Amino acid sequence: MPYIEDCPIIMHQEVAPDHFRIAVRTSAIAREARAGQFAMLAVAEGIYPFLRRPMSFERIFPDGVAFLFKVEGEGTRLLARRAVGQVLSVQGPLGRPFPVETRFARHIIVAGGIGVAPFPALADAIVRDCGKVPELILAARTRAMLLCEADFRQIGCTVHAATDDGSAGVQALAHEVLERLAPGADTRVYACGPMAMMKAVSEVAVRSGADCQVSLEAQMACGDGACLGCVVEAKCELEGEKMLRVCADGPVFDTTLIDWDAHNLAFDR
Ligand SMILES: Cc1cc2nc3c(=O)[nH]c(=O)nc-3n(C[C@H](O)[C@H](O)[C@H](O)COP(=O)(O)OP(=O)(O)OC[C@H]3O[C@@H](n4cnc5c(N)ncnc54)[C@H](O)[C@@H]3O)c2cc1C
Ligand code: FES
Repeated sequence: MPYIEDCPIIMHQEVAPDHFRIAVRTSAIAREARAGQFAMLAVAEGIYPFLRRPMSFERIFPDGVAFLFKVEGEGTRLLARRAVGQVLSVQGPLGRPFPVETRFARHIIVAGGIGVAPFPALADAIVRDCGKVPELILAARTRAMLLCEADFRQIGCTVHAATDDGSAGVQALAHEVLERLAPGADTRVYACGPMAMMKAVSEVAVRSGADCQVSLEAQMACGDGACLGCVVEAKCELEGEKMLRVCADGPVFDTTLIDWDAHNLAFDR
């Protein structure tokens, strides 16, 4: 059940140029939140901007949650100016979380750019609920944009870094690294990042017989399924509908449900 809580900001840090982490204290939201779900944040005090902005839970603690975000426009610029001690209005948890199931022998997370945001919470959940440590493909344009690497290593993950310019890890695309890791029918792949990356990762996963879950993005207004502002096209009709709402039916989907060729779903992270 989603709550709206006024949450004190207890941490605010710039983790890379134009990339920030905010942690807030919350009781109800932290108790209910699952990895892959998101919250709608009132980015500033007062009524401007009117619409809340969606952010994934980066970390879920017993008494708080953290968000990791990139400055994209006015809303995230205002969020980046908030400070410890101020109050952030958080509505959540919303959406469908990543399924976390013990039946897979391997769990491979593929993160592109700021698409890494939901994955520290997911890695925590896989370790806690499956007793397995996920492998992680961390892809970014350049070394400075490889976020959360130390956090994943602390969780115990094997990190395969990949950069477009070769400044860290291998100079390769995320789906090429996935191919080298040879996922199989015993593997679940989790992906979040730019549209082109998720599509390529999905193709490798499906070809290998692996299960693949993707976290999609869309511009959102209501965040709770009412306005139909965030729909994406499904591969086939589901209960008479060919459209899926990213906020309420997702943001996490089994990749086989998505019509990847229908439209450009995410902006370049
Ligand atoms: C479920 C969900 C979870 C998200 N989690 C995170 C997260 O953890 N970290 C993070 O950095 N970002 C995340 N985002 C994206 C984030 O919500 C947007 O970057 C933010 O709302 C932009 O607001 P703004 O006012 O700064 O930019 P705006 O001024 O609204 O837009 C700036 C530019 O970004 C584009 N844009 C804005 N929002 C979106 C969107 N949702 N999808 C595609 N294009 C968009 C606009 O078209 C425009 O070109 C998430 C989005 C969704 C839907
Ligand atoms: S944002 Fe309104 S239905 Fe998804």
